[in-house]
Amino acid sequence: MKIAILGGDGFVGWPTTLHLSDLGHEVHIVDNLSRRWIDTELGVQSLTPMDSIQERCRIWHEVSGRRIQFHLIDLAKEYERLKVWLAEVKPDAIIHFAEQRAAPYSMKTDRHKVYTVNNNVSATHNVLAAMVETGIDAHLVHLGTMGVYGYSSVGAPIPEGYLDVEIDTPSGKKEQEILYPTKPGSVYHMTKSLDQILFQFYAQNDGLRITDLHQGIVWGTHTDQTRKHEQLVNRFDYDGDYGTVLNRFLIQAAIGYPLTVHGTGGQTRAFIHIRDSVRCIELALGDAPKAGERVRIFNQMTETHRVRDLAEMIAKMTGAKIANLPNPRKEAPENDLIVKNDQFLALGLDPTTLEEGLLDEVVEVARKYAYRIDRSRVPAVSGWTKDLGAKVERDPEGKALKSVS
Ligand SMILES: NC(=O)c1ccc[n+]([C@@H]2O[C@H](COP(=O)([O-])OP(=O)(O)OC[C@H]3O[C@@H](n4cnc5c(N)ncnc54)[C@H](O)[C@@H]3O)[C@@H](O)[C@H]2O)c1
Repeated sequence: MKIAILGGDGFVGWPTTLHLSDLGHEVHIVDNLSRRWIDTELGVQSLTPMDSIQERCRIWHEVSGRRIQFHLIDLAKEYERLKVWLAEVKPDAIIHFAEQRAAPYSMKTDRHKVYTVNNNVSATHNVLAAMVETGIDAHLVHLGTMGVYGYSSVGAPIPEGYLDVEIDTPSGKKEQEILYPTKPGSVYHMTKSLDQILFQFYAQNDGLRITDLHQGIVWGTHTDQTRKHEQLVNRFDYDGDYGTVLNRFLIQAAIGYPLTVHGTGGQTRAFIHIRDSVRCIELALGDAPKAGERVRIFNQMTETHRVRDLAEMIAKMTGAKIANLPNPRKEAPENDLIVKNDQFLALGLDPTTLEEGLLDEVVEVARKYAYRIDRSRVPAVSGWTKDLGAKVERDPEGKALKSVS
């Protein structure tokens, strides 16, 4: 298959690119490298030393004999270039990772809110409009997030995308299937909720074939392909904006920094290892909907954990201390989360569990690159409101912090 990977230079995009190239597909990356620019803006860098995208592709060719083409296009701002490119390359499948994906970054200031909405909603809509206009019959696979549901569960499992409801009408009750209601908890999650509506419209109006993967928090670093050469290493974000909870705990343990639990740590989240994430994308590619079918929605996660339980698990494994800090997010202090993921299990996913993979990560990645960590970038300082931001005053080591929003 000829596959376009939008956002293929990112944390999930790069290992997916290598995985699909390794399977023999012709892979094209489209990326505007904005994520690298945001590192510069924030004054942070990936824990792992990342080469340029051109160098990564060159090394992959050396290691595997396969070529990956890289195209520098801003999907949100360069609609005409995107359209010309699509018409020329005519991919059979398009995997769409290309969005600003950090909730704390999206809540930092009004400028970051505006950027996140403009970038994410325009990128998604431009891709959809260009697919219709060029008439290419590609299967679009989008990376959405479990976070669209807002984490305040009602005690019932979150289904895979759709909910059967009964509506009272003058002639009695009528059954209807609706998109499971979203309750986004940040501007970033709000853009993913908007994406869902765009997909619903283009699937029903133009018969686009779309799969939306509601992914949990991705943890881990390596896949079989990124291990093949030191310079193919994946990125690993640890800072307060882009670092995801479990990866942050791992580096905190590696540098003797207290594990930062915000609020009571009673928030339950869904997780998936990066190896399973790339495998799920492969499985979704092989199971495309037909034109005219509803958007296919999968919950792409393998286990759920409460944040404080995760911290305790890592503290026990490494001897790290735990620090309870004020929560900069506006969210329920405690929540349950039950999620259905039957579709991927039925397609043959065999999950990597936290218990199997955690220690490898601490030793092979977090400790190995610990010398690259800037401790001052570890605290999470982006407040969801000005009042919440003002409460984040000190880091766990007692130093004064400047909140941003
Ligand atoms: N990492 C996670 O834990 C996680 C969890 C759930 C969902 N997701 C989703 O998966 C996708 C990929 O996440 P990630 O962690 O790899 O993010 P990332 O930030 O590492 O990668 C995103 C890539 O998209 C590119 N990009 C952004 N806007 C673009 C634009 N306008 N034009 C072209 N390229 C653009 C960036 O430069 C970057 O390389 C995101 O959409 C994210 O919402 C990620």
